[in-house]
Amino acid sequence: MSPIGVFDSGYGGLTILNQFTQLLPEYDYIYLGDNARAPYGNRSFDIVYEFTLQAVCKLFEMGCELVILGCNTASAKALRTIQQKDLPLIDPNKRVLGIIRPTVEVLGNITRNGHVGIFATEGTIQSDSYAIELSKMYPEMKVTGEICSMWVPLVENKEFRSEGADYFIQKNINHILSVDSQIDTFVLGCTHYPLLLEKIRKFTPSNITIVSQGEIVANSLCSYLQRHPEMETKCTKNGTRQFFTTESETKFSDSAEIFLGRKISAKRIIL
Ligand code: DGL
Repeated sequence: MSPIGVFDSGYGGLTILNQFTQLLPEYDYIYLGDNARAPYGNRSFDIVYEFTLQAVCKLFEMGCELVILGCNTASAKALRTIQQKDLPLIDPNKRVLGIIRPTVEVLGNITRNGHVGIFATEGTIQSDSYAIELSKMYPEMKVTGEICSMWVPLVENKEFRSEGADYFIQKNINHILSVDSQIDTFVLGCTHYPLLLEKIRKFTPSNITIVSQGEIVANSLCSYLQRHPEMETKCTKNGTRQFFTTESETKFSDSAEIFLGRKISAKRIIL
């Protein structure tokens, strides 16, 4: 068995896994959420890197040849070092991919005036990963980042439909538009934010397009597998899904239902 590994700090990556399994249902998948140490969003570079590397190694041990960091914070703070420094030593034939680059790639076809706003965690915004990737691909674009510190806790604490959520969402949207009133595209640069989509839409002016990552990242995985038959043939196809968490199994299974829309059972592991 060589499942595709999907890693996130917690539950958010389930929104990415959901899109993978819809578009590419035949593959086997392992999801690993480091819920016991989530959120990663305001942790330092070194810690996010250390935790992410531990999770990637665990997924490799479980048989994965290909691991997707279904977490923007981990993609922003750990991906490059793992790809450049660790993978050549661990196993140069294995691959770890992130979700920022595929998201950035499609923005050129979405924005009409080149003014893009990124909503994300403190770690993702402070890493400047979106701005750096965008400047490589579309140097003419103007990128404004907004740290939405309360959005992940709202989701993790199941407050994403509450009136309290309105306050924080409206506050961040108003703030980013006060920095650049010409923004025509908002990127949900955190895997938790699709659960807030309804409320984000409520406070977003109708001329602004909201970009959610799941489908984009799934299309990108599909194209990666087509372009890399040497990896595609290694990924087994029995349609299985396994879920692992560093937190309690029941806690994870209960909350995962919110993200996946169906019940699952998870196993606890220690990293
Ligand atoms: N899943 C993370 C991301 O996409 C957010 C959650 C966290 O802060 O750990 O950035």
